[in-house]
Amino acid sequence: MVLIENIERLKEVLFRVKSNGKSISLVPTMGALHQGHLSLIEKARHESQVVVVTIFVNPTQFNNSEDLAKYPRTLEQDLELISEYTDIVFAPSVEEMFPTPPAEKYNFGSLEKVMEGASRPGHFNGVGIIVKRFFDLIKPDKAYFGEKDFQQLAIIKDLVKQNNIEITIVPCPTVREENGLAMSSRNQRLTKEQRDIASQVYQILLQSQKMNTESIQEICTFVKSEIAKMEDIQLDYFQIVDDTTLEEVENFDNHPGVVGCVAFFIGNVRLIDNIRYH
Ligand code: PAF
Repeated sequence: MVLIENIERLKEVLFRVKSNGKSISLVPTMGALHQGHLSLIEKARHESQVVVVTIFVNPTQFNNSEDLAKYPRTLEQDLELISEYTDIVFAPSVEEMFPTPPAEKYNFGSLEKVMEGASRPGHFNGVGIIVKRFFDLIKPDKAYFGEKDFQQLAIIKDLVKQNNIEITIVPCPTVREENGLAMSSRNQRLTKEQRDIASQVYQILLQSQKMNTESIQEICTFVKSEIAKMEDIQLDYFQIVDDTTLEEVENFDNHPGVVGCVAFFIGNVRLIDNIRYH
């Protein structure tokens, strides 16, 4: 595994890889890596000849400076975790990626107006900026994204479509801790007790999945009222949406895919999760 911190060196190494006709997979991350990331990297390992992992805490996607400052940074540990499965780690500085403030403006239409987009203004433009720059730089055949960030996945697919990028986006299932909590770098900021409490939100989602009803309203009411009973959890949103348009659905008819998405705070840590109904 080679660790690269500057763009020129990355270009040199990738030029050699491409001259040898090797297939490249990209796993973009912000570091603080866990088993969820590892599952993406392992999948990439099986499906391509060269695996590139980016580790970059992207300031343009944070709309809260405290959240950016507190985002865990654990490069040494990260490198140890992934060394067996990764060929190239690209971990640039902010100055390397953004020598001047980035000015790109993406329009993801209604996809960016709901849920995370509504709660975190500018977040998806920041994600679009960095992911497009990595795609342009690395030109991978495939890129891997976790389904935990369900809306991000929809945004990335749209970015690829809008810009006619030749790439296969590979969605990867959410990996969970034993208690059901979706793995997230932010979990590192929780105590053991908070992790257990946060995992109960997923248990509520599971119960809602098993409800014997076709009424979206009933499911929404159930989830929101159960979460409202939890003293340590502040619900940001729970929405049941079409899995392609991300528009809220009123019934299951005419929607081949329907997903419930939740965002909540435990202490000052904000977590997201989702569950598929259809
Ligand atoms: O999902 C993430 O970790 C980030 O949003 C991504 C895709 C690496 C872009 O910074």
